[in-house]
Amino acid sequence: PTVALIGAPTDVGAGARGASMGPEALRVAGLHTALAHHGVVVEDWGNLSGPANPWQPAVDGYRHLDEVVQWNRAVHRAVGAALAQGRLPILLGGDHCLAVGSISAVAQHCRARGQKLRVLWLDAHADFNTSALTPSGNLHGMPLACLCGFGPAALVHLGGQGPAVQPQQVRQIGIRSVDAGEKRFVHEQGLEVYDMRYIDEMGMRHTMEQALAGVDADTHLHVSFDVDFLDPEIAPGVGTTVPGGPTYREAQLCMEMIADTGRLGSLDIVELNPALDVRNRTAQLAVDLVESLFGKSTLMREHQVRRRG
Ligand code: ARG
Ligand code: MN
Ligand code: MN
Ligand code: MN
Repeated sequence: PTVALIGAPTDVGAGARGASMGPEALRVAGLHTALAHHGVVVEDWGNLSGPANPWQPAVDGYRHLDEVVQWNRAVHRAVGAALAQGRLPILLGGDHCLAVGSISAVAQHCRARGQKLRVLWLDAHADFNTSALTPSGNLHGMPLACLCGFGPAALVHLGGQGPAVQPQQVRQIGIRSVDAGEKRFVHEQGLEVYDMRYIDEMGMRHTMEQALAGVDADTHLHVSFDVDFLDPEIAPGVGTTVPGGPTYREAQLCMEMIADTGRLGSLDIVELNPALDVRNRTAQLAVDLVESLFGKSTLMREHQVRRRG
């Protein structure tokens, strides 16, 4: 496939400044060449623009709602345009509030083509807060709820009428920090959550087999990769670190098993915060993992696949 890189340099939805530098850090870490190296044709569509971060307190449970809406409109438009041109969009965030724009565009695209959509939400957090539940007012803690129909109208209806996705289309992986009210709401809505306890007990292989069950030739897989999914020991460059995340090998296996489906249709890489990183190593790790997501395999694996015919 031909990939379109879409940068959205903003941190308006986050509780720390710096994710706005994410797109450039990923480019500096060699995202373009890493993908091209694996036979992927890459177009860099450059960066979107939008309002600055006003750094204001929450109003009615939301920080920077107008700015978040403007950025998401731009993301929605660009991701929709990429899909319409047969490109596989990679959104370079930016904070995770941008998943509203990205996934609402993907959902519209799938609906128009009668394709099934499965969303894999790789994250330490559930991002399922509402204005009534949020402890922070930060909209990067609410995108999945907005996509499922719970949130301010301007975000819920970004992709037309009705919620962009149903909770049953979502699989959350790596979760280990959920606010009290948010936890109740996640259960109430019946989200399928593979939290760290599950991964510890069952292993990443079984977890991904479950999360990918039912994905068929007619499924569009969207991966929303919040970099804080990874253990902070290997990925310090994020604003909201939570200890006890997937190791390097677990994360690689997760990406490899997604690649094996051959159904990856769109991707968000969000929450990378270069201001908190160490010599860009978190960006480099993200690029390394994205390579696996696009089918980088070891020699050993290629032999096995060939032997199996
Ligand atoms: N649950 C917390 C909140 O709502 C943290 C959310 C972190 N989200 C993220 N995308 N990093 O404020
Ligand atoms: Mn390589
Ligand atoms: Mn997170
Ligand atoms: Mn997130």
